[in-house]
This record gives sequence, C-alpha cells and structure tokens, in this order.
Amino acid sequence: MAKLDQTKTPFYDKIKSYGQSHTVALDVPDHKLGAIQNDFRNYVGEHLFLLDANAPRGLDNLSKPKGVIKEAQALAADAFGADHAYFLMNGTSQGIMAMIMTACRAKEKIIIPRNVHKSAINGLILSGAMPIFMKPYIDSDLGIANGIDIEELKETIAEHPDAKAVFVINPTYFGVTSNLEEVVKIAHAHDMLVLCDEAHGAHFNFNDKLPISAMAAGADMSAGSIHKTVGSLTQSSILLIKGDRIEPSRVQSTLNILQSTSPSSLFMASIDASRSHIAVHGKEALDKVIEMTRKTRDEINQISGLKAMTKQDVINNKGFNYDETKIMVKVSDLGITGFEAYNILSDKFGIQMELAETHLILAVLSIGTTQNDLDRFVEGLKGLVAYKKDVKIAHKIRFTYPDSYTRPREAYHAPKKYVKIEDALNEVAAENIMVYPPGIPLVIPGEIINQEILEDLEFYTAQGSTILSDTEDGYIKVVDKDLWFKYEGDL
Ligand SMILES: Cc1ncc(COP(=O)(O)O)c(C=O)c1O
Repeated sequence: MAKLDQTKTPFYDKIKSYGQSHTVALDVPDHKLGAIQNDFRNYVGEHLFLLDANAPRGLDNLSKPKGVIKEAQALAADAFGADHAYFLMNGTSQGIMAMIMTACRAKEKIIIPRNVHKSAINGLILSGAMPIFMKPYIDSDLGIANGIDIEELKETIAEHPDAKAVFVINPTYFGVTSNLEEVVKIAHAHDMLVLCDEAHGAHFNFNDKLPISAMAAGADMSAGSIHKTVGSLTQSSILLIKGDRIEPSRVQSTLNILQSTSPSSLFMASIDASRSHIAVHGKEALDKVIEMTRKTRDEINQISGLKAMTKQDVINNKGFNYDETKIMVKVSDLGITGFEAYNILSDKFGIQMELAETHLILAVLSIGTTQNDLDRFVEGLKGLVAYKKDVKIAHKIRFTYPDSYTRPREAYHAPKKYVKIEDALNEVAAENIMVYPPGIPLVIPGEIINQEILEDLEFYTAQGSTILSDTEDGYIKVVDKDLWFKYEGDL
C-alpha cells in the first residue's frame, strides 16, 4: 500500500507552470516552447510544446535528481512498491540492459530464459555476461513459449552455483507468468539476484486479481513499460529496485551511460501523471477492465472456430498465472493463420491487434480500453469466420533452441562476414534476428544457425512478418571463424 500522497504530480506540475510562465527561451530546444510554426506544431498544438523543455532552472536533472524529479521518482517507488524508482526515456529496453549491466561483469553468469526480448540479449552484449539459458515451457497447442519450470531452475542453479543473477519475464508478451515468489526464494538462498522484465506487467501492483508484481514478490530489480500498460507516452518506462542487494548509485551510473543528456520532459511528465492516475484510480479501473475481458472472452468463445484462452486454460497448460487484461484468440481452427487474421481484422474491420503468431492473435487491453472497443473486436471476430478455409494450419513448433558457440559479446566483437540466408547453415550468428513483434530473437549473436532457424525464417518471411536484423534482407551477419581464431581479444 502506498504511503505517500499519490495525488501529487510534482514534475508534471512544475513543467506545466514553467510552460505557462512566459519565460524568454534562449535555450534549447529550438522550437522555443512551441513558438516555431510548422505543420507538426500546428497539428499537435501548443500544449505539447509547452511541456517540452530541456533543462531550465528548477526542473531538476534526471542524471542526478535532487528536486522535482527526485520527488516524482520517490512517489513512483512508493506506488510500485519499490525502494527506489528511476524514470527511463528509452523504454524498458534501457532498464533491461541496465539491470544486466548492474548485476554482471564480463564472463559472469546469468541464468535467463531463452525466450527473452532482444534488449536482454543486448544487455548480455554490453555487460559481457555469460548466459545460462533455460528453456521455457512451450504451449504446444498455441505454439508459444511461456514461463520457466521451477525444477529446471533448481537444476540449472545446481550446475551453475556461481551465477550472479536469475532473469525472469513477468509476464511474457502473451501474459503468462512463472512462480516468481518461488524463483526469488530459490535464487536468494543461493545468493543470486532476481531481475525481472516487467515490460508487460507494470500494472500488476494495482489490482490483486492480476499476477504478483516483481517488487511484491521480492525481486531485486524490475523494469516496466509504463507506456504499455499504465498510460504514459511510448518509450517512457521505469526501473525499480528493492532491498539492499543492489547499490542505487551503481544503478544511476549505469543508467547515465545509457541515457540521453537531454531526457524528454514530456515523457517524464507523462510518467508522473500516469503513475498518479493508476495509484489513485487503478484498482477500480483495472477491476472494470478485467470484468470486460471476462465477458469478451465468453462472447468470443460462443463464436464457432475461435477460442479465447481463459486463465484456467493457461494454467492447465503449465502457466503459473495469467494476466487477464491480455486476450489470446486461437484462430487456426478456422483454417487461417494468426497472420492472416491480423491482416483481415485491420484491413476489413479497422481493428489493430497487438501481434500475430501462427495459431493466434493477441489483444492487449488496459485502463484506456472501452466497452465499445471490445464490442467492435467481437463483431470483427464474428466477421472473421467468413474467411474460414478448409486448410489445416501446421507450423512446426520449436521445442529446442540453437546451440551456443560463444558468448554474445564475443560474437558481437568478432570479425564478421555476410552470407546469404540459404548459405548460413552451421555458421555462427553475429547479430540478433527476430520477428517483430514480439522481438524475441530466433537466433542471437554466438549461436549456431541450424536448419530449424532457416525454416522459421522462411516461414515468417512467407507470412509477411516483419523480420528485424541489422543486415540487408536475405543476408545474415555471421562470425568469420577463420579470422576469429586469430583474434586475441579478452572481452
Ligand atoms: C517482453 C518484452 N520485454 C521488453 C520489451 C522492451 O520494452 P520497451 O518497448 O518499453 O523498450 C518488450 C517490448 O515489446 C517486450 O515485449
């Protein structure tokens, strides 16, 4: 329970009054509090620009907060059940990289599920940490990777008692959680930190019908996307720490490496205001969303050929718990893939889903969702039935992950060459390659490209999915092993 007055929004108030103060702006940014006249300024209006200042007197500094940012972060820590909170201007991606860089030095081990977002892999590159991957549960009906198995965690810890940290996704993109309290108990008993990716779970602390939040479960650090589920502007997130295993000054130093020296006051104001809103109104607002999602699931489950997963379905499939504000709909029994359904809903019904997978589509709801949105969703899904085909949707579900050849950081720094995808079998990847969303790499730097990866890439390309890598389409950046053996770096 929050102890501070959560109606307060110190940063938002200060920047608002600065914008209205008629100060002569001889500093950057160059739009001069909206005085500039261009199409964008005229479209969005003056208020957005009035909130966008750089570092005027009295507005505090995110890299060493002492004033209103410090106060706003303390209110956020209180609301999210943490000891310290840090505003992030580069999304939860920045927080995840910072957590891993804070916890691990080069070559130190971190136990981490393989279905992590690319920012965790980038955290491994930046820190030089050695990943000890755990395989997540695979939901073989839906073809998606879920949480981790406690027995596997125990075995992994027994094999790697020198690991510094355990990384957990709370929840996965699809809303599925692992038994986090048990993970924390086991990890702490072995003197390991617990770091949580809460990109999709920043709202957990505000309603007890939702899975437990990382901070409430006793994790040491978590990073959450306020912009995904709490209502702030895209890219604005938060990093939380709790307990005495993490030194706050080390976290601040790491964030200062990863952060712009011109953090967006607009983002900070939107975090401050959204935090206050969810702290004050979140329980009631989330109760309403959860009730609406339950009703919507029931309605979807009346539509022949569609299945909206309930919490019980997820638990039956070895998920520990489920965030009911996400709705996964299995569409493949209609003979269409999730990718086709995603496009049909957008093109024909004006409905933008969060993502598609082979068998399903995912809706992410929040305190901004209205009953009208959900009525249109159900209508769209009824319309989808007309696109039914007499086809069996089969895509091989991957139960294994590629073998590792070297640490991600070494592969990142190794000499490289570019090969055509069809020639990449048995090469060592030097970059992340992923379908976006969800942004979970199919292969990461240092892994050996196997036949399954090549088949997956072919499959997702044929579905029209967005494949992200750093290289021109059709090519993969791989380690040049001939040169690498002569390479003597110690990274
Ligand atoms: C599981 C997961 N972790 C981390 C991130 C990164 O979050 P952000 O977009 O706030 O940087 C995402 C983004 O989609 C994600 O899905």
